[in-house]
Amino acid sequence: MSPTTPSTSGSPRPTAAPPRPTAAPPDLYGRDRGDRMMRALTVLGRLHTEAVARRGRRRARSAGPPTPTNGRPGPLELVVREKVVEAEDVLSLRLTAPAGGRLPGWQPGAHLLLELPSGRRRHYSLCGDPQDRYTYRIAIRRLAAGGGGSVELHDAVPVGATLRTAGPRNAFPFAAEPAVLFLAGGIGITPILPMVRQAARAGSDWRLIHLGRTRASLPFTAELAELAAQEDRFEVRVDDEQGPPDCAELLGRAPLGAAVYCCGPAPMTAGVRAAIDASPAGGLHFERFAPPPVVDGRPFELRLRRSGIDLPVPADRTALDMLREARPDTAYSCRQGFCGVCRVRVSAGAVEHRDLRLTDHERAAGAMLVCVSRAAAGERLVLDL
Ligand code: FES
Repeated sequence: MSPTTPSTSGSPRPTAAPPRPTAAPPDLYGRDRGDRMMRALTVLGRLHTEAVARRGRRRARSAGPPTPTNGRPGPLELVVREKVVEAEDVLSLRLTAPAGGRLPGWQPGAHLLLELPSGRRRHYSLCGDPQDRYTYRIAIRRLAAGGGGSVELHDAVPVGATLRTAGPRNAFPFAAEPAVLFLAGGIGITPILPMVRQAARAGSDWRLIHLGRTRASLPFTAELAELAAQEDRFEVRVDDEQGPPDCAELLGRAPLGAAVYCCGPAPMTAGVRAAIDASPAGGLHFERFAPPPVVDGRPFELRLRRSGIDLPVPADRTALDMLREARPDTAYSCRQGFCGVCRVRVSAGAVEHRDLRLTDHERAAGAMLVCVSRAAAGERLVLDL
């Protein structure tokens, strides 16, 4: 996934549900489930997921810059060791430490922030094996009409290049519930693939449906087929053979009470969210490529202190949108408030923080993530730009 951004643009990384993409998913409270065991497993799975998400958020907030040796996310130079064509317009990159040393550990759902030679910063889901402590793998779909990050990685970053990176961080934790339905749209398979691997290792009752336009556009199908010990665990569903997918029908394949992990384009995640309550599934976790729409936004204003420019921010646009119109080189990546790339310093005005990243201390010091955070109606925020 990341594209929307580029997260998995490569996917520009998919993101989670608004307003807190990494929060544990909502459950289907109040539904009559009939099966006591599955009901208990569902509750346990949800509690586990919430604990994992809380732990991840605490770590993300409290960890200082990590180093390659302490296992926490932090600045890290990695060398591109291999580029592999995985599907039409999809490349995978294998990255290692320059001297081939051990890399910080990660869990399924984690992503890596890459700083490209152009200065663009993009995050990509790790799609290799978390048990391989010496290699990271990411996959990128080439988006000719995207923000340029995926094209740069495809065309201008050769094997042997060194990239500055940060991470891994996890905004889409996997709780390895006993029964799981995975739904992946196109390059959205990247965060899902390590989850599938973990589910297979854990002996979970899992199913995966990988959706796309054509079979040729879907990466990692051979690898996934190998992971599927039983034939009915993995299904490829492509528009040019079966037509557009029906989300209710897809969710109907979920074992009773199963957790659903979904990563794909916005229409797909929206369809799954709309159909989840009527399905046999017990809970939904998702990431999407595009940023969430602005919810409860009110118009406010930005003043760029150094350049003296005033920018109105309409109720349905983000501060990042307006900054990018005025300054196209404004840095961003996830557009969902968790990567920190769009951070600016506010020297005056009260920020309405909506991110998942900044600590109270950072907020008090004037930091703001302009992709999601806003201000009250009529407020003026003065940015050190
Ligand atoms: S772009 Fe990632 S936090 Fe704003």
